[in-house]
Amino acid sequence: MTSAIRIDGISKMFRLFRERPTSLKQRVLVSRSRSEEFWALRDVSFDIAEGSSMGLIGHNGSGKTTLLKCIAGILRPTAGTIRYQGRLAALLELGAGFHPDLTGRENVYLNASFLGLSRRDTDRIFDDVVAFAELEDFMDNQVKFYSSGMLVRLGFAVAVHVDPEVLLIDEVLAVGDESFQRRCLDRVRRFQADGRTIVLVTHALDVVRDVCDEAVMLEHGSLHAIGTPDDVVRTMRHRMLSDDPTFVPEQGSREVEISGVTIESEGGLRDTVRPGEGLTITVDLRADAPVPDTGVSFAIVSGSTNHPVLEGKTSELGVSLGPVDRKKRVRFRIPAAPWVSGTYFVTVGLDSADGRVFHVQTQHYPLTVPDVDHAVRALSARPTVEVEDL
Ligand SMILES: Nc1ncnc2c1ncn2[C@@H]1O[C@H](COP(=O)(O)OP(=O)(O)OP(=O)(O)O)[C@@H](O)[C@H]1O
Ligand SMILES: [Mg+2]
Repeated sequence: MTSAIRIDGISKMFRLFRERPTSLKQRVLVSRSRSEEFWALRDVSFDIAEGSSMGLIGHNGSGKTTLLKCIAGILRPTAGTIRYQGRLAALLELGAGFHPDLTGRENVYLNASFLGLSRRDTDRIFDDVVAFAELEDFMDNQVKFYSSGMLVRLGFAVAVHVDPEVLLIDEVLAVGDESFQRRCLDRVRRFQADGRTIVLVTHALDVVRDVCDEAVMLEHGSLHAIGTPDDVVRTMRHRMLSDDPTFVPEQGSREVEISGVTIESEGGLRDTVRPGEGLTITVDLRADAPVPDTGVSFAIVSGSTNHPVLEGKTSELGVSLGPVDRKKRVRFRIPAAPWVSGTYFVTVGLDSADGRVFHVQTQHYPLTVPDVDHAVRALSARPTVEVEDL
């Protein structure tokens, strides 16, 4: 596979000046060494394949925007190189790249010219940009009077209309109303279908799992994880949960262990369940020596609230496994339920009747409930009717 973007050993150092010299004397005496070096990125390397969508996640201040700016050529890295092919359309932060004193109209032309479009090219896309941003009535106002949502809409509208081969998006999918977000996602999907490359920075882990082919997690400016969105989002979640001292991703004596878990919806989808569908959680266990009594439990935890939405345990469901000798399979069948869209994580645990922990994998398995179009779902509710004389 060809890479669209090759990030090779990128480091970015900012100089932080702690004290402001107050007098001329001080100014002369304060040497350059008084400033402190701050490394926002440290030796980050990875490739982004052509036509793929890369999600970039990490805590606040981990370096995501800095890296995106380096990719966009807005910041020069202190060390390392970035090679890429294709026209980049960067969509960085709220209204970055817009000039506050210019009107919306002037900024569209300015922005499009940064992205390599001629005036004539911009004339051709102008009406579509404005319509997409839904800013017909505001194009002759200075953008300093725009709300942040309006700026993001205009920025995104320009970026997707300049026909870029690579689209860089920083956290816009979280801004704007739902209908705008939906249109942005539609655009992103169209870009993907056209085989364009996307780099998406976001805190919305759902979106990364939903949209991206691959993901990178930065931590304190270093690459912390790279891989499938599921794996990287799990690492990120575990990192977030690890601030909680009671959180342990995996533990137990392992006399009997979880050898595999599959989550499948009634409709046959893996790791996904649609509202109104049933779900099966299959847990495979393995023991080297016979273990007399083992209980299997699961919990489905909401990724947004961190609260369990459903729990189950073999003993409470009136099932005894008998001795586990070598291999056993346990299937939890969950009947059709009105799942709420979002990301969930499934915890699976094995323990003994007297409470010894054999093996627990905390929030290890992701489960997605997609946002279905409510209009196409049939309701099974039966209406009643009342007649009143007036
Ligand atoms: N121009 C600058 N001068 C000094 N420090 C900077 C500059 N730009 C960014 N930083 C610092 O670099 C670090 C990384 O910032 P960056 O904006 O890349 O983080 P981020 O991952 O995008 O965070 P967020 O999720 O909050 O958007 C932060 O500690 C930030 O304060
Ligand atoms: Mg940022």
